[in-house]
Amino acid sequence: MNLLVVPFVFFAFLWSPNYSSAALDALKPTQTLLDNGETLVSVGEKFELGFFSRGKSKNRYVGIWYKNVPDTVIWVANRDNPLSNSSSGVLTITQTGNVVILCSNQSVIPTWSSNSTTKDPTLQLLITGNLVVKDGNSENYAWQSFDYPCDKLIAGMNLGWNLKSRWEWRLSSWNGPEDPSTGNFTYAVDPRGLAQLLQRRGSEIQYRSGPW
Ligand SMILES: *[C@@H]1O[C@H](CO)[C@@H](O)[C@H](O)[C@H]1NC(C)=O
Ligand SMILES: *[C@@H]1O[C@H](CO)[C@@H](O)[C@H](O)[C@H]1NC(C)=O
Ligand SMILES: *[C@@H]1O[C@H](CO)[C@@H](O)[C@H](O)[C@H]1NC(C)=O
Ligand SMILES: *[C@@H]1O[C@H](CO)[C@@H](O)[C@H](O)[C@H]1NC(C)=O
Repeated sequence: MNLLVVPFVFFAFLWSPNYSSAALDALKPTQTLLDNGETLVSVGEKFELGFFSRGKSKNRYVGIWYKNVPDTVIWVANRDNPLSNSSSGVLTITQTGNVVILCSNQSVIPTWSSNSTTKDPTLQLLITGNLVVKDGNSENYAWQSFDYPCDKLIAGMNLGWNLKSRWEWRLSSWNGPEDPSTGNFTYAVDPRGLAQLLQRRGSEIQYRSGPW
């Protein structure tokens, strides 16, 4: 009986995909998403992730947009680390769970990385628009894009403070319609106990939600 098992396992191995391109909504460590129109699409097809530029800019970014409104980018990974004038960009996840954007498939040093680590990683674009690094089937994500808001808040995201970890979720503007880099306008919750929202330009407070 044991002898039957070996060739069966070998057969299954031959049939497993190796260095394939992105399938639907997730990437495993041997898979890549290339800057040639490849995208991840969430279940339900509401959200799409891929490479983009804006206007005349030659800078390439990895972002998430509404699939039926591609102009509405809701999140940008490498907003402050664009790939310049390149169409050879690669998004992948390492065997240790680090999400990386590489200038090309020959690059060793990533242009951008999530710095996350996990044992059995999958990068997945969830139905909510949250891009997560999963460890096996655990619901405790090693990393999630919802922890790094850009300029838009969508259902399921938080604004404010995780008081336990002292982590802050805040919005910050783009620097211009063609430039998603972190801008001067921020929208955050006042950490000094009073639950009010502050809109700032640099350090200048422009708007408070409180009644004073
Ligand atoms: C961008 O790349 C193209 C093709 O590699 C090249 O012809 C062009 O001069 C580059 N533009 C800039 C601004 O570097
Ligand atoms: C890397 O990219 C080059 C040029 O785009 C291509 O010829 C080569 O097959 C790629 N290598 C891998 C391992 O994907
Ligand atoms: C990852 O670590 C590098 C080096 O410390 C840092 O420059 C970069 O901002 C980090 N990436 C993120 C997404 O925080
Ligand atoms: C943001 O602030 C910096 C420094 O104060 C300034 O140089 C830059 O022009 C500002 N950007 C915008 C879009 O206002």
